[in-house]
Amino acid sequence: MTDHVQTALQGGVLTIRFARPDKKNAITDAMYRVVAEALEDAATSERVRVVLFEGEGDSFSAGNDIGDFVQIATSGRPAGEAAVFRVLKALAHFDKPAVAAVKGSAVGIGTTLLLNCDLVYVAEDARLSTPFVNLALAPEAASSLLLPARIGHARAFAMFALGERIDGVAAAAWGIANAALPADQVEPAARAAAAALAKRPPESLRLTKRLMRDGAALWAHMEKENAAFGGQLTSPEAREAFMAFAERREPDFSKVP
Ligand code: COA
Repeated sequence: MTDHVQTALQGGVLTIRFARPDKKNAITDAMYRVVAEALEDAATSERVRVVLFEGEGDSFSAGNDIGDFVQIATSGRPAGEAAVFRVLKALAHFDKPAVAAVKGSAVGIGTTLLLNCDLVYVAEDARLSTPFVNLALAPEAASSLLLPARIGHARAFAMFALGERIDGVAAAAWGIANAALPADQVEPAARAAAAALAKRPPESLRLTKRLMRDGAALWAHMEKENAAFGGQLTSPEAREAFMAFAERREPDFSKVP
């Protein structure tokens, strides 16, 4: 267990709050485990009508904990055992509304999670990025399908392959978010939207979401991504990228085979 993810249920809204602010809410395996359990329970619990994602402190999430990547890469355990895959499966099939409130940095799964939410509120000065190629990895959470569908191939490729970062205003203009707001209005707006959804007819909401998103197809796509991602995790180029992050230097891919 970890207290780096807090969950609370109120008025039909299950809030899942990343709470590791000193590490910009980077998500560890233990944190994914809590999120997976929360989403799996939420999917079947009649008490949960809506899920709301939030981040404690100045960032939504800096994405997967890079130290955990190194551990998975060096442990010899199959990457598929990592709890993140449970989270992805639960997200793909989740048919109740999911809402997100995003301030500060949203990196990697911090951004790709948003593509699996239904309403997203961002701070105008939020910083969204999906720098998988910076880390010699590959896109996840069906983002290789969902991001180009939202913002077009050229913009999505620049975000994936060049690590280009966008702010909240662009995220709203490009269709990743519903609204870009002053930072102090983001959580109130997301909470109000979640509370409103919790009062809507649940079966109608579920049918609407299922018609808009094919969970089985998304999971099938995620499985392809997971194979690419898992394969890259133990690659020499990813090892160089992780070392460079730990040593706070630029990676040098000129010598990798
Ligand atoms: N994994 C592990 N630790 C992380 C982390 C991550 N993904 N992101 C941030 N941290 C840690 C930093 O190592 C630092 O720890 P320290 O205080 O013990 O040195 C702490 O969080 C604060 O981060 P810092 O980089 O000093 O903050 P910043 O405001 O300058 O930058 C980010 C914030 C999010 C832009 C930057 O930390 C970053 O780029 N992180 C990596 C994001 C990433 O590549 N994620 C994986 C995507 S697949």
